[in-house]
Amino acid sequence: MNIENPLTSMLGIKYPIIQGAIGLKGMSNSKIAVPVSEAGGLGMLTTISYTDSKEFSEDLKYIKKITDKPVAVNFTLMKGTDFNNEFHKEYVDICLGEGFKIAFTSAYDGSAIGKRFQDAGGVWIHKCATIKHAVSIAEKGADAVVIVGIEGTGFKSLEQNSTLINMTVASRLIKIPLIAAGGIANGAGFLSALSMGAAGVYLGTAFMATKEFQAPDKLKEKIVNQDVLDPKYLKRIYKMEHGAMHSLASGVIDSVKTVEDFINQIINESDEIINKFKLWKMFV
Ligand SMILES: Cc1cc2nc3c(=O)[nH]c(=O)nc-3n(C[C@H](O)[C@H](O)[C@H](O)COP(=O)(O)O)c2cc1C
Repeated sequence: MNIENPLTSMLGIKYPIIQGAIGLKGMSNSKIAVPVSEAGGLGMLTTISYTDSKEFSEDLKYIKKITDKPVAVNFTLMKGTDFNNEFHKEYVDICLGEGFKIAFTSAYDGSAIGKRFQDAGGVWIHKCATIKHAVSIAEKGADAVVIVGIEGTGFKSLEQNSTLINMTVASRLIKIPLIAAGGIANGAGFLSALSMGAAGVYLGTAFMATKEFQAPDKLKEKIVNQDVLDPKYLKRIYKMEHGAMHSLASGVIDSVKTVEDFINQIINESDEIINKFKLWKMFV
């Protein structure tokens, strides 16, 4: 399957499949990001996942040695924490100094960081949880925007919608490329998101369950074995507060695969769906 759209061209990637930020210490680094980029998607480092800026800088240098594929960096903007502007400024300087020019910001307004990347000829994409914030960040000049549906994980808001509503409604309101996140982990989810108006998908839970992700096996087993009909689990997913927990995407993750096998599976499943439609003479 060949996919070329405004997002793949903007990012220089083969498949519009993006590995989401994971702010757990030591987990969202080159070990997961490079395999994702090598397999045709876009891998992402998360600055708050590193112990300090020295470790981050060394990882960027290492990445440049082992791949020529693009790798993005996430800046998670937390209100009322130590991750103030000075913290981000140092990491921004390191990224630009090493030639890493794709920035994702998330949570609070990331336009100051975004502008620094755009001024350096790079790309700025923001991730938010509501259509309202996506409209506002598009107005502030982001190159693309990720909207996380209620099925996903991370910040929860009373104004949050499902991935279905996010994409169908936002694609009428926003002209920059839209990226769907929340509950996506297979070809059906990928293809649905593109049908609803997304130019790409952004996956957190699914990449946490891959072999390369630096988490204990028991966390990956939890994702694979998660009963997504369990009321206690559903309550945690839908409760209106921040909770870094594997999402409803768990419902379609049935084994721990390598990143390459997982990305290929998404593409193969998408091909199968399209071929099935053709066989049934649907939409022909
Ligand atoms: C354990 C965990 C930690 C996360 N940490 C961050 C973070 O630090 N910053 C951020 O922007 N998103 C974070 N996310 C959210 C993901 O980047 C992504 O938006 C989300 O997982 C998408 O939903 P999905 O899990 O259904 O694919 C985290 C998600 C999980 C599961």
